[in-house]
Amino acid sequence: MNTKHLYIHTFGCQMNVRDSEQIAALVNTCGYKRTQDVRKADVIIINTCSIREKAAQKVFSQLGRFKFLKSEKEHLILALGGCLAQQMGRRLLEKAPYLDLIFGTHNIHRLPEFIGTIEKTGLKIVETEFCDSVKSMGIPAPPEQGSVCAYVTIMQGCNNFCSFCVVPYLRGREESRLAKDIIDEIKMLAEYGVKEVTLLGQNVNSYGKGLSNGSNFPDLLRKISKISGIKRTRFTTSHPKDLSEELIRCYMELEPLCEHIHLPVQSGSDIILKKMNRGYTHSEYMQKIEKLRKVCPNISISSDVIVGFPGETDGDFRETINLMEKVRFDSLFSFKYSERVGTAAVNFAQKIPEAVKEERLKAVQFLQDKHTLERNRAMEGKVEEVLVEKISKKCKSDIMGRTRSNKIVNIAGNSGLIGEMVPVLIKQAYLHSLRGDLRQ
Ligand code: SAH
Ligand code: SF4
Ligand code: F3S
Repeated sequence: MNTKHLYIHTFGCQMNVRDSEQIAALVNTCGYKRTQDVRKADVIIINTCSIREKAAQKVFSQLGRFKFLKSEKEHLILALGGCLAQQMGRRLLEKAPYLDLIFGTHNIHRLPEFIGTIEKTGLKIVETEFCDSVKSMGIPAPPEQGSVCAYVTIMQGCNNFCSFCVVPYLRGREESRLAKDIIDEIKMLAEYGVKEVTLLGQNVNSYGKGLSNGSNFPDLLRKISKISGIKRTRFTTSHPKDLSEELIRCYMELEPLCEHIHLPVQSGSDIILKKMNRGYTHSEYMQKIEKLRKVCPNISISSDVIVGFPGETDGDFRETINLMEKVRFDSLFSFKYSERVGTAAVNFAQKIPEAVKEERLKAVQFLQDKHTLERNRAMEGKVEEVLVEKISKKCKSDIMGRTRSNKIVNIAGNSGLIGEMVPVLIKQAYLHSLRGDLRQ
């Protein structure tokens, strides 16, 4: 019998990337091998995102591209999962009647059953029920051969309800995995040769809140730091309001914990932060940054900013610029506010015109490019520990790795160094990467 193939197209955040790995592992149990060639596919799964309108639009244009494959191959199963599927459910069939399967964020574990039924009956399936416990979090998924870095989901969902954000409605309430299961998974990854793990959750600082054993995120980090073979740990995302002193101290105490934090600020204006329901002020955020830098002077800090939230005046926007000037982030993801159905901000007055949002976004990006380059240039002439991940995509005689501060470094070298931690002299800084030489 010919091997059947699965092709997955992933949109959205790291959580979705990890979900796709688990989807692949699961669908593999029904005899489907993951392929990178969509023309070979017998099942195509689009794992979707709906964080902003643009993310949703991208899904629809991709769907349009896959539609013609359906007409070429009669038995092809075309499925849509993830956050947009959760949000739209059956209504997706009005836009894309050719879809065979629509499954929500809590139904991944049922994929073998869904695919089996469709194979046998040809019937369409739509399933977007929430269940109390997200079973897919624990699906074992061995890393791709030769992977040096891996994602590990430690929790699902979000209870924060920031007024702009659709995630709590699409991923459900916060739920933490048992520490034992997380540790076992990381030990398995270490046995496969993984050296660096990134712990994933919408708000990792809340880890353990619903568990009866009293474990918290710093506890979990301490346990993971003892796993042999794992040289580096990272996590994303942490919410500023819950960033505890105990977690900040981990940067000093835990060797494997890398000197980088992604700490989304969203806005520098107290009025806007309040409307966003973020639970901290401009000065509270600054205090956390100061504490982090005190404990870990070289820490690299990245963030997210939204411009053009309803009611954002020029003065509010200046506060965001002001905060950026003070912090000088290593990198920043900036977005124009995008209205999402079901969120509180839909009802907020004083919507900001597109042109103003565009202008503010450009100003943020211009300033951030300056800061990123400034922070990267400060590394020139220094020797950094780099964990080599792979052969560079652009140049086959280069290898690519990252510093502990999460900066990409390209180095002349060969594949024998993949998985090794090497000292690298940083020669040249660019906006998105560094160039360095191996130090003997
Ligand atoms: N859990 C993470 C964020 C997940 S969403 C956290 O709390 O930090 C990633 C980023 O998308 C957010 O930080 C925010 O900057 C942006 N975002 C979320 N909803 C948005 C919206 N409606 N419009 C524009 N940007 C949005
Ligand atoms: Fe969305 Fe806020 Fe939850 Fe992050 S913390 S996922 S921005 S609601
Ligand atoms: Fe997108 Fe869902 Fe992640 S909306 S950002 S894929 S949690």
